[in-house]
Amino acid sequence: MSSHPTNTWNAIILAAGEGKRMKSALPKVLHAIGGRPLVSWVVRTALDAGASRCLVVVGHGRDDVEQALRADFGPRVETVLQPQQKGTGDAVRCAIDAHGDLVGRTAVLYGDCPLIPPTLLRELVERAGAADADCSLVTATLAHPDGYGRILRNAAGSVERIVEDRDCSGPQRAIREVNPGLYAFDTGFLRESIRRLDTDNAQGELYLTDVVELAAQRGKVIDIEGDMSELTGINDRRELALAAATKRRAVAEELARQGVGVADLDTLYVDAGCEIEPGALLGPNVHLRGRCVVRTGAQIDVGCVLVDVVVEKDAKVLPYTVATDSTIGEGAQVGPFSHLRPESHLGPRSKVGNFSETKKTVLGEGSKVNHLSYVGDGVIGKGVNIGAGTIFCNYDGEQKHTTTLEDDVFIGSDSQLVAPVTVKRGAYVASGTTVTRDVPEDALAVARTKQENKEGYAARMRARFRKKKAER
Ligand code: UD1
Ligand code: CA
Repeated sequence: MSSHPTNTWNAIILAAGEGKRMKSALPKVLHAIGGRPLVSWVVRTALDAGASRCLVVVGHGRDDVEQALRADFGPRVETVLQPQQKGTGDAVRCAIDAHGDLVGRTAVLYGDCPLIPPTLLRELVERAGAADADCSLVTATLAHPDGYGRILRNAAGSVERIVEDRDCSGPQRAIREVNPGLYAFDTGFLRESIRRLDTDNAQGELYLTDVVELAAQRGKVIDIEGDMSELTGINDRRELALAAATKRRAVAEELARQGVGVADLDTLYVDAGCEIEPGALLGPNVHLRGRCVVRTGAQIDVGCVLVDVVVEKDAKVLPYTVATDSTIGEGAQVGPFSHLRPESHLGPRSKVGNFSETKKTVLGEGSKVNHLSYVGDGVIGKGVNIGAGTIFCNYDGEQKHTTTLEDDVFIGSDSQLVAPVTVKRGAYVASGTTVTRDVPEDALAVARTKQENKEGYAARMRARFRKKKAER
C-alpha cells in the first residue's frame, strides 16, 4: 500500500468515553487544563502537526463536546458519532465507516492525552511514511506502568502486540514498556483490519490495540520511543491535576522565554487563550484566565485574578485586584484590592484604587475613583475626581439606572448619586451629599443638614457622666 501521497494525512481523535474514574457529570474530555478542554489540546496537536482532516469521535455528552469543539475550531474539525461506547476499536471503526473517502495515513490519538507535542506526532507520521509501515506507534518506559497497555516484543525485538493492563498475566504485568496511545496507520490497512477485532478480553470491548497485532502478523510495524511525561493519559482527577501543573509550568517558561517578565515560574497561571506581549511584567500568584490581553510595559502585581481582561500598555494592576470582562487603559492604575466587574472600561491614565468596585462603567481619561467606592452603571467623563466612599445608587429594587458625570466633575467624599442622575461639566458635589436631581454645569450641589456648633456642650456632658458615676 504505497500509492498515497505521504504529505496528506488524517487524524482521528477518540473522545466518546464517559470517563467514570473522573467521578464527574462533565464528560472527561471536557475537563480543562490551562483553560482549554482536554480534547481541544489534542485537536490542536493534530492540526499543528499538519493533519489535513481532523475527525473527533463523540458519544458520551456529545452535544457539549461538539459545542466546545465548534467554539474552539469551527469547521476545521468534523465529528463522528459512536452510538455506544464499545471500546477504542469500535470508536475508530465508526470514524472509518463514516468516511469511506479517507486516504493516505491516519493517525489515531486519544482525547484524554493533552500534553503530546505536535513535533512528536509529525515525526511519527513522517517515519511511518518513510518506512511505508502499516502501523507505527510510540512506546515509552515507565517505572510504574500500572493502567497502561504493555508492549510485547518478539525475539527479534519488534512489537508483536499490546496487552491491556486488565488482561495481563502476572509476568506481563511486570513489563515496563507501555502503550501511550499514539499511532499512525496506513488507512487502507486500518479500514480492513478494524473489522477483524473481537471482544474476547477482560472488558468485553473492541480494542484498537489489537490492530497492532494484526499489523505485526502482516509484517510492517515500526515504533519510536517517546517520553512519558509528554504522553500521559488522564483517567482521574489526580492525573488531571498533575497534567495541569505540567502545562502551567510549560506556559510560564514559554512566556519568560519570549520576554515576558515572570516573577515566579512556580506560581504564574496563564490560560491558553491569553496573549501576553513581551515586556509585560507578571508577579507571583497571578491568574490570567480566559482571553486576557496584556500589552507591553503593563505590570500585574501579586495575587491578581483577571478573567477576559485587556490591560493596555504601561498600565499597573496593583496587588490583589480581581477583574472580569473589562479593559484597563494605557497607563491606568488599578488596585490594590480593587474589583472590576464586567464591562468596566477604564480610560488612559485613570485610577481605581483601594477597595473600590466598578461595574458596567466607562471611566474617562485621567479620572479617579481612589478609595472605598461603588461605581456601577456609570458614564464618567475625563478628569473627574470621585472622593472616598462615594456610592452610585444604581438600583431601585427593580431596574438599574445610569449615573452620568461629565468632564471635570468633583464628587466630595461619602456622597451618594441616586440614578438616573447627571452631574454636568465642571460641577462640584459637596461631601456627604445625596444627589437626587441633576446638577447644572459649574454648580455646587449640597444636600445635608446645616452644621451647628454648641459651645462647651461636650465638656458639660462629660461632667454629668462623672457625677453619675460617683453617685453609683
Ligand atoms: C487506552 C489503551 C491502552 C493505553 C492507554 C493510554 C486501548 C484498548 N487501550 O486505555 O493500551 O495504554 O489508552 O492512555 O485502546 N474512547 C472512545 N470510545 C470508546 C472507548 C474509549 O471514544 O468506546 C475514548 C475515550 O474517550 C478516551 C480514549 O478513547 O479519550 C481512551 O479510552 P480509555 O478508556 O481512557 O482507555 P484506557 O483504558 O486508558
Ligand atoms: Ca485513558
